Amino acid sequence: MRLKNCHNFQDFRTLARKRLPGPIFNYIDGAADDEITYRRNTASFDECDLVPNVLSDVKDIDMSVTVMGQKLDMPIYCSPTALQRLFHHEGEYAVAAAAEKFGTMFGVSSLGTVSLKEIREKHSNPQVYQFYFHKDRGLNRAMMESAKEAGVEVMMLTVDSITGGNRERDLRTGFSIPFKLTLNGMLQFISKPMWGINYVTHAKFSLPQLESHVDMSGGAMSIGRYFTDMLDPSMTWNDVEKMVKFWDGQFCLKGIMSVDDAKKAVDIGCTGIILSNHGGRQLDGSRSPFDQLAEIVDAVGDKIDVIMDSGVQRGTHVLKALSLGAKAVGGGRFYLFPLAAAGQKGVERALGLMRAEIERDMRLMGCKSVEDLSCRNLKFR
Ligand code: FNR
Ligand code: LAC
Repeated sequence: MRLKNCHNFQDFRTLARKRLPGPIFNYIDGAADDEITYRRNTASFDECDLVPNVLSDVKDIDMSVTVMGQKLDMPIYCSPTALQRLFHHEGEYAVAAAAEKFGTMFGVSSLGTVSLKEIREKHSNPQVYQFYFHKDRGLNRAMMESAKEAGVEVMMLTVDSITGGNRERDLRTGFSIPFKLTLNGMLQFISKPMWGINYVTHAKFSLPQLESHVDMSGGAMSIGRYFTDMLDPSMTWNDVEKMVKFWDGQFCLKGIMSVDDAKKAVDIGCTGIILSNHGGRQLDGSRSPFDQLAEIVDAVGDKIDVIMDSGVQRGTHVLKALSLGAKAVGGGRFYLFPLAAAGQKGVERALGLMRAEIERDMRLMGCKSVEDLSCRNLKFR
């Protein structure tokens, strides 16, 4: 399997699996408990069908959207994800550059491996800073201040990770940062020497968003421990309201699922909500964002930008979400497998294929622009 033979999500996943040591592949591919929510996320798109209109002059297609004040040339963006330089040595540099080429937004995680400031200086497309709520309130403010100084457009507070999800694949491989592998995990690294050579011959692994604030030198800081030891499980709507005021700009919550919470997000002054279950990586058995979308749009769609992520693999998935009233759609693994497979070239190929799918499907749907899409184009079985 080569990059030029990758035509869809599953092809990129296959190539990523070939290139990555097992523990890293399984960290990306895996999810919580029995991974039921992970599977459901994509399956939920299959429970409704698109109903096209025809003969409506679809020569020129405009798929641009405006979300949280940002104009995106395509309606899907690269959701923030952790540890990208571990997946490919080009990491966040590759994702930001590819997103810029396609005129879309990308997120930098607080567990990102490149500094948000460095990336902001290099690229002009809209940038999101994803962060978690730490026990140390001073740290939260300092992180927002650095993001403001860097010129980041959108703050994105992840609210579905109040504690770490139970990722059993990671428990089996011993995946943690820095590596503390089980014997089996170690053998899987040895079997992918090219990954190892790239890893040791490029810039040393680091977590710049955290390193200036947190002492990470004390040994293994597994993802689970980061969630458990550093993040504040006592966070409330009051705390977040203060942050929204402090930021005084575009601020969204990632991981809202209920109508009640969507309304609270409006009340505290957020400008966006991302319906998301973290790609099935947190609460297994939770509902898919697509299943929950219509109800949320109905309740708050005229007051706040409603966005969704989790399970998006195809252009038609994006069109279905937009038809139900999402302003834009985010994706994680749809660009992470391509990144792991081939760095920037991989992400560009994935975004290019996605754009071509959306364009083709909009033509076939008889829609010139995303405003032409509505729930009248969708029938549930
Ligand atoms: C994530 N996601 C995530 N979210 C977040 O808020 N902060 C983070 O650091 C990460 N890190 C992360 C790593 C990996 C490997 C994955 C797969 C996901 C969640 C991400 O932003 C997004 O919500 C999901 O990836 C969406 O699901 P799909 O598109 O992967 O199905
Ligand atoms: C994850 C965390 C880092 O999903 O958000 O792995």
